[in-house]
Amino acid sequence: AIDPEFEENRDIVEQHDGHNVWGPVEEPDTLGIHGTHVAVDFDICLADGACLEDCPVDVFEWVDTPDHPESEIKADPAHEDQCIDCMLCVDVCPVDAIDVDPG
Ligand code: SF4
Ligand code: F3S
Ligand code: ZN
Repeated sequence: AIDPEFEENRDIVEQHDGHNVWGPVEEPDTLGIHGTHVAVDFDICLADGACLEDCPVDVFEWVDTPDHPESEIKADPAHEDQCIDCMLCVDVCPVDAIDVDPG
């Protein structure tokens, strides 16, 4: 599961579409955590898709992650600023790849 303390335990190593990426990142095998308010551990996500289907405000978008061992697409929190903290995505992800930190 995603580390709920990732903000203490990891460093921001890059930006992706306006959100933070928390390392380590070593493509293609290690991709880190994308987002902060809505955080997705790309190394755990296996492209189940429930988060995209269920998010009422369409926070997530697929991004291509070719050659990653878990899956070659990931749910990117592209619109994390629109999150309404309903926690549905956290509940439905089968591998607990998502952490939402209600304001
Ligand atoms: Fe979407 Fe709710 Fe998850 Fe926020 S907590 S990203 S609104 S499903
Ligand atoms: Fe990935 Fe979990 Fe969504 S596996 S696609 S973060 S439901
Ligand atoms: Zn991203």
